[in-house]
Parts: sequence; C-alpha cells; structure tokens
Amino acid sequence: KQLAIFASGTGSNFDAIVKAIDEGSLDARVALLVCDRVGAAVIEKAQRHEIDTVVYTPKLFSDKAAYEAAILEDLRSRNVDWIVLAGYMRLIGPTLLAPYEGRILNIHPSLLPAFPGKDAVGQALDKQVKVTGVTVHFVDDGMDTGPIIAQEPVHIHRDDSKEDVQRRIQTVEHRLYPEVIQSLLPKEEYK
Ligand code: GRF
Repeated sequence: KQLAIFASGTGSNFDAIVKAIDEGSLDARVALLVCDRVGAAVIEKAQRHEIDTVVYTPKLFSDKAAYEAAILEDLRSRNVDWIVLAGYMRLIGPTLLAPYEGRILNIHPSLLPAFPGKDAVGQALDKQVKVTGVTVHFVDDGMDTGPIIAQEPVHIHRDDSKEDVQRRIQTVEHRLYPEVIQSLLPKEEYK
C-alpha cells in the first residue's frame, strides 16, 4: 500500500514509519511526504531516504480548498491509498476528507478525548494527571475527534520534566504508529 505522510515539524514519527518499512515489519511504501512548512526538519529526513516531497505554503493559495486540491493531485498521481498525519498541524478539510474518508490516520500525544489540540503534554502536566498516553485515530473534520483505533498509557512520575514525559510518549508513538498502520492493511490472501 502507498502511504502519504503529512508532517510539519521534526519528523521523528515519519522516521519511525520509514524504519519499520525498511526492517520489514510494515508492508507499505511511503510514496510522498507532504509538508506545509519550508525548512521543516522532516524534509531533510525524507531527502535522506530519497522519498518524494512536496512543500506547499498554505498562505500562497487562495483558500484551503485550493491548497488541498493541489495536494490531492499529488496523491492521485502517486496512487496514494492512505494519508498518515504525523505532526501535521492543520485540520483536514472536505477536499481531502471526501476522497480519503476512513483512510486518514492521526497520532496524538494524549489519551483522547482528554487534551486535544496543541500542547497535549503541557495540558496533562497542568492538570497533574498521573497517566496520559498516545492515541491513534481516524481523522474526521474535528480537532483530534475521529474514531479511536488504538491507545496506550504513559505514566507521569513525580519530578518528571515536560521533556521526560515527551520522550516517554515519543518512544511509545514510534512503536505504536507503524504497528497500527500494519494492522489496518489488508492481509495477504493465501493462494
Ligand atoms: C507527535 O508527538 C504527535 O503525536 C503529534 O505531533 C508530534 C510529532 O512529532 N501529533 P514528530 O514530528 O513526529 O517528531
């Protein structure tokens, strides 16, 4: 199956997915990186792996529909089956949702529906919760609201810094996301 990964930032989840494919635990191909921010670190990571990349600046388009229409053309020309959001800091609009409904995934650093949106780890620390975690879910038109596919808890210890919690969450993300993607792909049929 052909994946397009959408990312705006560092791309550690992007790397983890590519690594799982290289190691043979994820039976897919990253056909495209879609990035909305010139200079994002994830772009270099894609180049290192020789993965096709498109970088679009949303502000340079007349509206969101035009921005997403340009992306849709890239996805179609590469026969992309699944859209995998990995630190993509935007809502997906109807132009992409309609054709890819049920085939767009997101990973979020909390146990949704707790702490949606930005800075989920900061929100969890503010509330002094003792357990947060990671959620992989289908994307709908809301902010981190779609049906949940998988969750894993991450404990917050006394004296943890934000970085400690973030590191623990990312370790879980990097294992969980490739596993969940693999679990959604159609199984090879016995002949
Ligand atoms: C991850 O924590 C993910 O849960 C959130 O954005 C972050 C992306 O990190 N949606 P990275 O760019 O993959 O390192």
